[in-house]
Amino acid sequence: MSTPTAPLLKVENLVKHFPIRGGLLGREVDRVYAVDGVSFELAAGETLGVVGESGCGKSTTGRCILRLIEPTSGTVTFDGRSVTGADKQQLRALAREMQIVFQDPYASLNPRMTVGAIVGEALTIHRLTRTAREYEDRIVQLLETVGLAADHMRRYPHEFSGGQRQRIGIARALAVSPRLLVCDEAVSALDVSIQAQVINLLEDLRGPLGLSYVFIAHDLSVVEHISHRVAVMYLGRIVEIAPSRSLYTDPRHPYTEALLAAVPIPDPRVKRKKVHLQGDVPSPIHPPPGCHFHTRCPLAQTEQCRLERPPLKPVGEPGSGHWVACHLR
Ligand SMILES: Nc1ncnc2c1ncn2[C@@H]1O[C@H](COP(=O)(O)OP(=O)(O)O)[C@@H](O)[C@H]1O
Ligand SMILES: [Mg+2]
Repeated sequence: MSTPTAPLLKVENLVKHFPIRGGLLGREVDRVYAVDGVSFELAAGETLGVVGESGCGKSTTGRCILRLIEPTSGTVTFDGRSVTGADKQQLRALAREMQIVFQDPYASLNPRMTVGAIVGEALTIHRLTRTAREYEDRIVQLLETVGLAADHMRRYPHEFSGGQRQRIGIARALAVSPRLLVCDEAVSALDVSIQAQVINLLEDLRGPLGLSYVFIAHDLSVVEHISHRVAVMYLGRIVEIAPSRSLYTDPRHPYTEALLAAVPIPDPRVKRKKVHLQGDVPSPIHPPPGCHFHTRCPLAQTEQCRLERPPLKPVGEPGSGHWVACHLR
């Protein structure tokens, strides 16, 4: 995974366990292993898709990267600066460079604020504009950047469609001129045709605005076209990470194969294995030991699968950047 320049974002061994408290004393009686040792790098200008079923730890990973929640352990480094070790002031500076776009624009936009106030809030917080005129001009510019109009600034979120609200959320994130956007299921709640419009918008903005994306989705088909690389998560761990093409045409992890088997293929020449998974995703409160996937794995389950955590190891052509965490592949 060598890149000529230092990565923009580096996540190393990220762990987030949520304690479950019980009893009169509120002692920790159990824990949710939401993120269980996630590592990856993101180059400047790159889009990394992160996929996996609901509950596998995607949002928790995204929130830990921005320190919206505190990781249990592990490190996050942005442009050579420690995020996990940052104090309040450093974190504030980092917040201008890393932003998040949430799934639910209905819940994340304050219904009592005008669109202009929503988009402009960060300009005030970070003192990015000096005069009222500058402030207003910047809001107009941001709205136009995301395909909305200047006169939308005086309206309220409820007056907009789902796709437009997501554009407002994107404009708000762009206000501070960030370099990294974590898009957490940013299009998942939208109709398929609207999804494509928002994805195209994000893709069009990436180069001109110098953005990089961590693009979270539960569906492999959503991230395929926008991502340079894709990471597949299962129960708090990355089980496979590879350049998109390589992942979609030559998946190595049985879980990735199963996810892909559920994605319709437009090209009839491409043949995919039919893999059907048994049972449900186990609880992240008591994840299986060894390989988290072994209880549902269609491959032979060896003693090693049941006992040892498989590390990510390179597969395929040397330097291809295709990594898989499976003892049998
Ligand atoms: N604040 C929290 N307290 C306890 N458990 C949580 C909390 N947030 C998330 N979880 C649990 O952590 C796991 C991963 O959640 P999440 O990161 O939201 O997954 P995803 O985004 O992939 O659907 C889930 O089992 C979820 O229930
Ligand atoms: Mg989520």
